[in-house]
Amino acid sequence: MPDKALLQSIHEEALPLLGQGHVADYIPALAEVPPDRLGIAICTAEGGVIGAGDYLEPFSIQSISKVFSLVQAMTIYDESEMWTRVGKEPSGDPFNSLVQLEFEHGIPRNPFINAGALVVSDMLQGRLSAPKQRMLELVRDLSGNPNICSDKVVAKSEYDHSARNAAICYLMKSFGNFENNVDDVMKSYFNHCAIRMSCADLARAFFFLANQGVCLGGRRLIGERQSKQINALLATSGLYDGAGEFAYRVGMPGKSGVGGGIVAVVPGELSVCVWSPELDESGNSLAGTRMLELLSKRLGRSIF
Ligand code: DON
Repeated sequence: MPDKALLQSIHEEALPLLGQGHVADYIPALAEVPPDRLGIAICTAEGGVIGAGDYLEPFSIQSISKVFSLVQAMTIYDESEMWTRVGKEPSGDPFNSLVQLEFEHGIPRNPFINAGALVVSDMLQGRLSAPKQRMLELVRDLSGNPNICSDKVVAKSEYDHSARNAAICYLMKSFGNFENNVDDVMKSYFNHCAIRMSCADLARAFFFLANQGVCLGGRRLIGERQSKQINALLATSGLYDGAGEFAYRVGMPGKSGVGGGIVAVVPGELSVCVWSPELDESGNSLAGTRMLELLSKRLGRSIF
């Protein structure tokens, strides 16, 4: 059972890595985040949330929101309908790459690369009357924090620099795999990415994936089988072209975001979130990955 002293020692051991990565700057508003933040929080059924470092400070969840979008889509769409629009394979390419889309007829490899998340957002746009509000309701409910909001400055900054995501959407539209207005869908997607949550919020919110689909408060969000399916996708594609290295070093299903957050789960036991804004070359938090590697070693946990 992890305790606060363990998290504090992991935090201390990762501190010297600060200064070795690069804060994401392709979204200008994100480049302004203080680079020296480092936090870790763990959530278990028995202990609730414990943390160390900057674990209560909210940050931009970015691609971590792709998991929440997928959960929403999986509860609205049939399995057969869902997986004709997006695949389940790792991409091996950067998260914002367009290359495979052209060869693979506009069907993104998985729901966690940008192309896949944009298709999922398109699917949600078609079936939800207020997608931005529904997403906020979901994350507030899962984390038990009614104050969670999306950062309008970050969302606007993403929209003002959206050429690559727009290109991805239009390429998919040319293949008939994008139904709604591109601008409307991108606005929802950026709004989701710009949501601000702390490590404590995210550890709580992701507990359902450690608990076979049942949230911290006892409500069933998704089925046991769906929870396993999402964890499988996270293990193979949650860290983009860094998924192999992450599986090797950490050995947990996980999801990263360019805001520097990474969430991970040990199924049947705990959910964890780390945050440090400086990224490695795959766009994953450098010190955050190290903290998860240390946690996995110290607890002797891995799904492999
Ligand atoms: O669309 C984008 O590029 C960002 N809003 C999200 C990218 C991201 O977080 C990739 N994660 N490592």
